[in-house]
Amino acid sequence: MRILRLNLAQLRCFESLSIVPAAGINLLQGANGSGKTSVLEALFLLSHGRSFRPGGSQALIRRGQVECTVYAELDEGSQTHRLGLARSAHGWQARIDAQPVSRLSSLLVHCAAICIEPGSHDLIAGPAEFRRRFMDWGVFHVEPAFLEAWQNYRRCLQQRNSLLRRNGDSAQLAVWEQGMDSAAVRLDEQRRAYLGRLRIQLLEHLARWLPELGAPMLRYQRGWAAETALIDVLAAHRIRDREQGHTRQGPHRADWLLGFEQAPERHQLSRGQTKLAALACLLAQFECFANSAARRRCCFWMTLLPSWIQPIWSK
Ligand SMILES: Nc1ncnc2c1ncn2[C@@H]1O[C@H](COP(=O)(O)OP(=O)(O)OP(=O)(O)O)[C@@H](O)[C@H]1O
Ligand SMILES: [Mg+2]
Repeated sequence: MRILRLNLAQLRCFESLSIVPAAGINLLQGANGSGKTSVLEALFLLSHGRSFRPGGSQALIRRGQVECTVYAELDEGSQTHRLGLARSAHGWQARIDAQPVSRLSSLLVHCAAICIEPGSHDLIAGPAEFRRRFMDWGVFHVEPAFLEAWQNYRRCLQQRNSLLRRNGDSAQLAVWEQGMDSAAVRLDEQRRAYLGRLRIQLLEHLARWLPELGAPMLRYQRGWAAETALIDVLAAHRIRDREQGHTRQGPHRADWLLGFEQAPERHQLSRGQTKLAALACLLAQFECFANSAARRRCCFWMTLLPSWIQPIWSK
């Protein structure tokens, strides 16, 4: 994938902006507040359907306006696509080649952008949700069947949670638990396969960039008890889940963690080491994507070259 053109309208500080990036490396330079991160954010939106900055999607809309849009022309090797994404108080509207699409995911699958930004270290230091999103973005882009399994799982999970809150009986719960179980098996397999591929590149970067920490390792936690079928776990936890009003185990609670011989837990890493570990994860994800079966291209963006990257930049 190569971006031929990127247009923004009413997004952050921009009334309108059109960029025609060069092939290869592009540098954006400008004063503080001139909009560099906003350009990056627009590209991230087309790839992730959300911003990497706090404030929610409404914060993207230029003050005083009701809608922002991002438009990109992408060269995907054999074909060119035009992606359009608009955000208003009514939600997202997506178009591919001028045709409206009902699911945002149909658009996101065309654009793969990996971004290093000041909050990237949350990937290591932050809650499991960040790591799950990272993992699922990677699986989504290399495994076409992932989305269907995830949507099935989420639908069954929502139904089960709603029944838990309405005090639904066990027979009703069992219907949705069955659906969760079969989707969970597929999600778990796809995530494992993805992390298996990511691990090779990731551990290599970590060993090279953080040699002082000893051998690195990556642990995957699937979200429910090992060696037990999810359906049995769910059945056994109905009473507790009813009290809590939600399902506490399942692939929606999956996580993956990095550890090192000299720092087995992530909180034992320094701030700089945490950032380097996050950079290694993002770079490995980029490589995994580029080496996937379709050998598609991905863009890799970085906000201002941070000082903590300097020591490894030359390597
Ligand atoms: N919803 C909004 N409407 C209008 N302006 C906004 C909105 N959100 C942010 N801004 C402004 O957009 C400008 C561009 O911000 P951005 O973070 O993209 O700048 P930057 O070039 O990355 O700056 P820095 O070099 O400091 O990181 C800022 O002046 C910010 O205050
Ligand atoms: Mg910035």
